[in-house]
Amino acid sequence: MCGIVGYIGKKHSAPSFVVNGLKALEYRGYDSAGLVTVKDGRLLYQKNAGEVDNLAKELAGSGELDLSLVASLGLNSKAVKGALKKKLSRSSKELSKIFSPSQEKNKSSHISCGIGHTRWATHGRPTRKNAHPHTDSEEKIFVVCNGIIENYKELKAKLIEDGYKFVSDTDTEVVPHLIDSYLKGGEDFFKAFKAAVKELKGAYAIAAVYTGEPEVIYTARLSSPIVIGVGKGEHFIASDPSALINSTKKVVFLNDYEVAKITASKIHVETLDGGKTSKKEVVELDYEAEESDLGIFPHFMLKEIHEAPATIDSAVRGRVKPDINTIKLGGLESVKKKLTEIDRIIITACGTSYYAGLLGEYLIEEIAGIPVEVQLASEFKYRSEPFSDKTAIIAISQSGETADTIAAVKKMEEFGLLRLGIVNATGSTLARITDAGVYCHAGPEQSVASTKAFIAQVTVLTEIALHLSQGKSKLFSPMLKELWELPDKARETLKLEPQVKKLAERYSGMRDFLFIGRNYLYPCALEGALKLKEISYIHAEGCSAGEMKHGPLAMIDKNFPTVALACDGPLLDKTLSNVEEIKARKGPVIAIATKGNDSVKKLVDDVIYVPKTLEQLQPLLAVIVLQMFAYYVAVDKGLNVDRPRNLAKSVTVE
Ligand code: F6R
Repeated sequence: MCGIVGYIGKKHSAPSFVVNGLKALEYRGYDSAGLVTVKDGRLLYQKNAGEVDNLAKELAGSGELDLSLVASLGLNSKAVKGALKKKLSRSSKELSKIFSPSQEKNKSSHISCGIGHTRWATHGRPTRKNAHPHTDSEEKIFVVCNGIIENYKELKAKLIEDGYKFVSDTDTEVVPHLIDSYLKGGEDFFKAFKAAVKELKGAYAIAAVYTGEPEVIYTARLSSPIVIGVGKGEHFIASDPSALINSTKKVVFLNDYEVAKITASKIHVETLDGGKTSKKEVVELDYEAEESDLGIFPHFMLKEIHEAPATIDSAVRGRVKPDINTIKLGGLESVKKKLTEIDRIIITACGTSYYAGLLGEYLIEEIAGIPVEVQLASEFKYRSEPFSDKTAIIAISQSGETADTIAAVKKMEEFGLLRLGIVNATGSTLARITDAGVYCHAGPEQSVASTKAFIAQVTVLTEIALHLSQGKSKLFSPMLKELWELPDKARETLKLEPQVKKLAERYSGMRDFLFIGRNYLYPCALEGALKLKEISYIHAEGCSAGEMKHGPLAMIDKNFPTVALACDGPLLDKTLSNVEEIKARKGPVIAIATKGNDSVKKLVDDVIYVPKTLEQLQPLLAVIVLQMFAYYVAVDKGLNVDRPRNLAKSVTVE
């Protein structure tokens, strides 16, 4: 989804820093990009539909980017020369403006200041005019915004009545005009900014610069993240700390209804109501600047699938101790006593994280004996249901920034119930608003389709189930041992890649797919279908094998293949009966079965054998095959695997 990056200081050139930051946020999904920067009295305002690289080319051509940065962006010199030629034929007024005499005093401070944005279209098509920053008619106030301004229509109508002219279809464009209306009313910029923000309804993170104060960035948020990075004589802003990863680990989180005025040397934060100053803590983020390059892999998705063994390992290491028959989850220590009292758990999440949650339900109920209910966060937040004070909520999120999941957790605040999180992104909103939780430690996930995060979430849910069982489950010791074996088994599963690739290429022309499984393999079937549809655009449905006769079987014919998750377990024979029913209707069947079980091969068209593990942990291996299958189908179709159409990595709006 949309991304914001900003810089103020002398150390970097703002255009270069902002473009680099926007590149780091590309994985979130976007369709246009833009920036505005000011330095020594000179304004640079540029935006484009399409990729950040297009923006970078334009800026490189106009001499506004460090050439070293141009090289790191991988822009070839031909492209830059092309843009340079373009610059010669373009009026300099279009790219840069000299400030009015009142700002001349700032001309030689060498402070470089700027904000940039990647936009994921919500209001209005992905065009240049709808790209951010948006500005007022005199091009003196520039605003970028993530999220949604729900009351923009009313605000726009009023501003039009007052004579303001709009050029875009976006909700964001009301903000610079609104600020301008307060400025014209005689307020100073900060007051005008606050007054405008106060009028906004919805969920937003906003950053603004004003040519009248070219050494300040203003920012505000409500239910959409913004973080301020702290450097030496410089500050940064970003909607996602990963954009700052190479510059600082020290950050200040802005809370809802707070506004900040940021200069190179100072961060001043106020709350919107009454303007009282709140003291902000500088937090040291617990993350390492990880390699974000692809290494030997052609796509992040494949790289991340291959990280499955390391992902399980880092979720298990230091927590699971089979030698002393113990599990220790440091993140739950502070709520240890409360956890012994709970009698109901609600798991809430979206998409892939929701399917991990469904597996959590099976795991916690079987291992810890506590009733669990899993709810889609988008439904849960609007439901009216009774809670006992012994209910706990577990929110699961890779990004920790999913708007619906955050809203679901916030809803529980009113009830005073225990809120736990299973989050991958350290320092994210969800990690901060829950009472306690367990980090996934999967490292940054760049591909839009979630792969390693699902594996980490299910591993952590297994650990939570074992932790809640207090060692009483008969599965306790065998599972502790098996969790240690699992990284090797995941490695073995990855060796199936050539086989899965061949299969994917054979089936990539199909229009529809069904994924079936029972018990622990049912949520895994749902996840397999989601993975295939989101990156290959093939219609895919997941269902419980037991549900086939209640409807889905009607779809089966020779052109409707089924992926049957048929690993060893107490319900295997039942799943195989369903497979026979499909075969009787000429439906092609690909099975995922346990190594050594030759009976499955006889029944199906194709089979992939995964290593044997405990029934409860089978999804962690089977899903690797499903992820690789979806990946190779999409590759065979020539699609953009890492950035599927219409989707965003982090869904920060409802
Ligand atoms: C699918 C996928 C999405 C996310 C969902 C929740 O591959 O990535 O379905 O799982 O948007 O995102 P998080 O886990 O960040 O809350």
